[in-house]
Amino acid sequence: MHFTLNEEQRLIRDTVREFATQEVAATAAQRDETETFDRELMFDRLAQLGLTGILFPETYGGAGADYLSYALTVEELSRVCASTGVTLSAHVSLGANPINLFGTPQQKERYLRPLATGEKMGAFGLTEPSAGSDAGGTRTTAVRDGESWILNGSKNFITNGGEADIYVVFARTDPQARKHHGISAFLVEKGTPGFSFGKKEVKMGIRSSPTTELVFENCHIPLENLLGSESEGFKVAMKTLDGGRIGIAAQALGIAQGALDHAVAYARERRQFDQPIGNFQAITFALADMQTRVDAARMLVYRAAVQADSGSSYSREAAMAKLFASETAMDVTTRAVQIHGGYGYTREYPVERMMRDAKITEIYEGTSEIQRLVIGTALLRN
Ligand code: CAA
Ligand code: FAD
Repeated sequence: MHFTLNEEQRLIRDTVREFATQEVAATAAQRDETETFDRELMFDRLAQLGLTGILFPETYGGAGADYLSYALTVEELSRVCASTGVTLSAHVSLGANPINLFGTPQQKERYLRPLATGEKMGAFGLTEPSAGSDAGGTRTTAVRDGESWILNGSKNFITNGGEADIYVVFARTDPQARKHHGISAFLVEKGTPGFSFGKKEVKMGIRSSPTTELVFENCHIPLENLLGSESEGFKVAMKTLDGGRIGIAAQALGIAQGALDHAVAYARERRQFDQPIGNFQAITFALADMQTRVDAARMLVYRAAVQADSGSSYSREAAMAKLFASETAMDVTTRAVQIHGGYGYTREYPVERMMRDAKITEIYEGTSEIQRLVIGTALLRN
């Protein structure tokens, strides 16, 4: 498997890198501090660069690029601002991609096109207060009534919540069916009567990315907004998350690379005992371990992306990439803080923000324990 980037992939990576370092990085600390989502910078500018539809066919307003280009994009954004990385990842992988994978031509025209062009933003509502890792425990209900589905229930921890215009929402349509059976996927537009936003979370990291509750109270949506087949929603969710995990793995990789960049620069510049701290073997060895883990994570992330592009199943590869890259991000950012000493613990340097941001990558889109479950189960099955 080769990861030599082709001309298009290099161009996308370089364009995003330039945008990230020249525009996104400048306000990352301040947005983190004030918990500000800057839609113009974190979404509209991405749309102008053609990134909001990066994975989708040109016939629906997308860029028609591949998963590796998408991973490079999320990696480069997250290298300077993990909140911007997840805004794009949640929009592309979770909000728009299920429509790309399961939508009818009419749904793609109505919803995928404005999502791809960035006229609208997407989000994904699977998690509920009592159904997190156990996504099959969904309690939100959807009942068919004449020309509508009526949704009742709530979703929590939804990335892009409140900001997004189109939500992919999972609800139980067959109350008799057990566990993951009887769940269906729906497309819900912001502004639909009966659909509102509840609590906005105050978080440890990715503080510039909004995370909110979605509330459905007798929310009527048209029958044609069922996404995929009735009672097949759990598979819509799982297939969507396979791709989403590549996005979060790339986010984790970007965070780790960003922290490593800062650690190397600091080890060169900071002097103690009349010499740069990089001269001390303890620091050199730490940097060597960090670089090795980052490169190993990169290979797993790119492999999963290439596998996704190949058209064969990639659940296990995506889970491995997400597991390893997120644990790498936590390890590398923690060491980067250590290399910065007391300064690393202050908000004067970005590594403490990166350490706080890294933690979420071990939790969302399936915790590390759930990734191990997916990998181990696949291993024993084959
Ligand atoms: N693709 C297609 N089908 C799949 C699948 C996949 N990747 N994984 C499972 N399935 C199918 C199974 O084949 C099975 O099908 P049958 O009914 O035909 O047998 C069915 O789904 C149920 O599978 P399991 O028995 O394995 O299901 P489970 O209830 O044990 O749960 C799980 C499996 C992997 C733990 C799953 O519940 C899971 O992924 N949980 C984590 C939830 C999660 O990741 N949430 C993320 C929310 S989004 C987010 O966080 C956003 C963000 O970061 C920004
Ligand atoms: P729980 O499932 O209660 O897990 C608690 C602990 O138990 C964890 O350590 C877990 O690994 C462990 N555990 C649970 N089951 C098992 C098991 N079978 N084996 C071993 N260990 C287990 N969800 C969305 O739908 N859309 C979003 O956009 C979204 N964005 C998010 C953004 C943020 C900032 C956060 C914090 C969460 C987001 N989530 C989103 C939800 C996220 O996916 C869940 O938080 C995550 O899947 C874990 O669920 P939980 O929090 O209920 O933890």
